[in-house]
Amino acid sequence: MCGIVGYVGEKVSLPILIEGLRRLEYRGYDSAGIAYRNGKGIGVCKAKGKIGDLEQLLPVPFPEARTGLGHTRWATHGMPSARNAHPHVADGVAVVHNGIIENYQELKQELLSEGHRFLSETDTEVIPQLIVKYLKKGLPPTDAIKAAAAHLKGSYAVGIMCEAQPDTLFALKKGSPLALGFGENEYFFASDMTAILPYTRKFILMEDGQICTMTPRGLTLEYTNGDAAVMVVEKIIEVDWTPSMTEKEGYEHFMLKEIHEQQRTVAETLQGCTDLSQQLPNDLGLPAGMLQKVRRLQIVACGTSYHAGLVGSYIIERFARLPVDVAIASEYRYRDPLLEEGTLFISITQSGETADTLAAQREAKRRGAAVLTICNVPGSTASREADYVLYTKAGPEIGVASTKAFTSQMTLLYVLALAFGVQRGALSLEDARSCTAQLLSLAGHIETTLKTSDSIRPVAETLTGAKGFLYLGRGINYPIALEGALKLKEISYIPAEGCPAGEMKHGPIALIDGQTPVVVVAPADDLFEKILSNIEEVKARGGRIIAITNKPASLAHKADAIIEVPDVHPALTPFVTVIPLQLLAYHIAALKGCDVDQPRNLAKSVTVE
Ligand code: AGP
Repeated sequence: MCGIVGYVGEKVSLPILIEGLRRLEYRGYDSAGIAYRNGKGIGVCKAKGKIGDLEQLLPVPFPEARTGLGHTRWATHGMPSARNAHPHVADGVAVVHNGIIENYQELKQELLSEGHRFLSETDTEVIPQLIVKYLKKGLPPTDAIKAAAAHLKGSYAVGIMCEAQPDTLFALKKGSPLALGFGENEYFFASDMTAILPYTRKFILMEDGQICTMTPRGLTLEYTNGDAAVMVVEKIIEVDWTPSMTEKEGYEHFMLKEIHEQQRTVAETLQGCTDLSQQLPNDLGLPAGMLQKVRRLQIVACGTSYHAGLVGSYIIERFARLPVDVAIASEYRYRDPLLEEGTLFISITQSGETADTLAAQREAKRRGAAVLTICNVPGSTASREADYVLYTKAGPEIGVASTKAFTSQMTLLYVLALAFGVQRGALSLEDARSCTAQLLSLAGHIETTLKTSDSIRPVAETLTGAKGFLYLGRGINYPIALEGALKLKEISYIPAEGCPAGEMKHGPIALIDGQTPVVVVAPADDLFEKILSNIEEVKARGGRIIAITNKPASLAHKADAIIEVPDVHPALTPFVTVIPLQLLAYHIAALKGCDVDQPRNLAKSVTVE
């Protein structure tokens, strides 16, 4: 997945493009480039590596260009190199692209046979070549772009600049996200709103099949199939995000900042969905009577969001006595899913743009299910296509490894469980009030837990050389074991497996030797004795135990390291047990010198299949 940004207006464009690319770098960072209007035509700078490498190549002083576009790449077709970096230019047409052109070989062969010459190995380069083909047939730029778009199969968010039409940018959208920003006599496009937050908070999220033409004098939106899209003013959203939310504010990494924001983000998410005077969930913005009609839930997501869904399934079944199935989106979408009458489909997605989750959501909708999405980005595709939306109030999450979005997702799932429980008569108002009060007191417990960070770093220092980890948990903390393993492997590149503690003897126990750190999530709940037995099994085979617990005394002679967490209601332990695992992964990765915010091979939102 890549990041694209464009500017047209009265300011010098290069600083805006570079700042935008810096804010998009978490989406992909193996090469970058910009294109800008100069007196002679289109100037281009491209570099393998990160934005900093590109900045070394920029002309000094910056050209007075007031129109430009930029790109930061996560390679799909063609190795990371300056030659394959975007923008791709053909005869006065410059293009940046996020997505995949699935039929590019066929198009490339056809264009080569017509005499077009290609410089790169990318799929993207067919786009400027197609536009040039139609410009040479005499079509004006907008029509040439529409004609070219008609050939493209796959997903794309494209920024285009044509020499033939100075101080104008074009944007095309199908399948990959693209936000339009509105300033004073200046307009922007970007793969996500955070890239242009310093300049505006007013956005329209483009829809599939739309083409945008923007100049300093105004912006038009229309459909590539010819249907004119009247500028639907109410579609302009104003986000309450601030530029500082997308800066590190003194932290070494975004991930560490976002881990430490969780006491606030959980509290803010709760505020949006609880009636504090009643100490109960509010109506969650859902239609009256909707929850009573639900007979079954299907929760579908990827990665960390999937782990949140697993926690939710335990909680909803416990508080609401409602059957819940949880599925990985990339599996769900291809297994001819069963959606019985009364099933509510819930997607969970921080970005709202994950291709597999969107496809699963669309499949459920196509089969007639009601669709609710739990999402963190206002106006994202998932939020626009769902029937109902519950927003996590985590603010922009920049670190590729998801942390604050995860605890905010869990927060909404807990509130949903209470709401279902009350509506279905499975939970008394008194119990619901007690649980809500416990949720509302979480911020303090999270703050206490965050203070373990200093005690975790010395533990991390002893573990950076480990060749592999095992994470164990039971019941509601089994998904937390999975999440801890994912956090570690995705930012430190150390293999890590999460498994239900009771499952260890069915295979994973073979992994244990004197070098294997075993992280055990062991809060004192009704499964505590069972997990103590699992710890004994590990110790008997020489494994090293790192225990996350609120009963340190019980583990004093069993664990090699103990990370103490506060006492909370057993059903709420995931909120305090996940934080030490986030911090452990962070410190190990940072000590190893890994690129914590932009781990290799990963992207923040996987907008391609
Ligand atoms: C989490 O740390 C990962 N970056 C990844 O698993 C992520 O949770 C997954 O790609 C889903 O993303 P989404 O929530 O934006 O759909």
